[in-house]
Amino acid sequence: MEVIVVKDYQELSKVAAEIIIEEVKKNPNAILGLATGGTPLGTYENIINAYKQGEVSFKGVKTFNLDEYCGIDKKHPQSYYHYMHENLFNHIDVLPENINIPSTEGNDLQAQCDKYNELLNQNTIDLQLLGIGGNGHIGFNEPGTPFTQETFVVELAEKTREDNKRFFNSIDEVPTHAITMGIKNIISSKKILMLISGKSKVDAAYNLIKGPVTEEFPASVLNNHPNTIVIIDEEAYSKLK
Ligand code: GLP
Repeated sequence: MEVIVVKDYQELSKVAAEIIIEEVKKNPNAILGLATGGTPLGTYENIINAYKQGEVSFKGVKTFNLDEYCGIDKKHPQSYYHYMHENLFNHIDVLPENINIPSTEGNDLQAQCDKYNELLNQNTIDLQLLGIGGNGHIGFNEPGTPFTQETFVVELAEKTREDNKRFFNSIDEVPTHAITMGIKNIISSKKILMLISGKSKVDAAYNLIKGPVTEEFPASVLNNHPNTIVIIDEEAYSKLK
């Protein structure tokens, strides 16, 4: 794991965007794995700016998102479908047919997982962007998830629902379940870019970089991946100095 320590969130967002843009310039048909949450927002802003300045095109790019909430419609303002369109896809030239986000529509969620997993098996992700949950989750793979796990319906940990309630009116509105790529899908990516920012991630950063590789801390699996870059700001790095 290569660890790049940057000054602050702004620099983190700039460096992350540069790495993604370079990947797409090098391979205009790149397959990108994308993440949601607060952390990648600045990265997406930088990517949009680069696109608007004619620096990069996403016409040949395919995207796969990590996860989606169950029990809310994709039009819901907090769905990851909505997040991705609002914060990235509506502002760049990626083709709608090349966008893949797990669908949680209908009653047969297992069939939705199988369908998404099949697509992932047919498409090797070149670069997977990741954030980290306060409890070490990646995607929505909560502590205890086997490293061999493929796409599945997960019951969200209480800590995750608490962390994400800031995006909803109350904890009762935070979904209890989601569909997420499994850890096996994530580590099948050729390259992984993990972003860690801010005080609330100090312990998660410490456990990722210094802790043991254990299913109790899902992100620790990245220590076994041959091509992972962690970009971390000084605040999140403070316990590691
Ligand atoms: C969310 C997402 C993850 C994200 C993490 C951290 O619940 N499922 O993909 O990385 O939690 O989010 P944030 O960046 O808002 O701290």
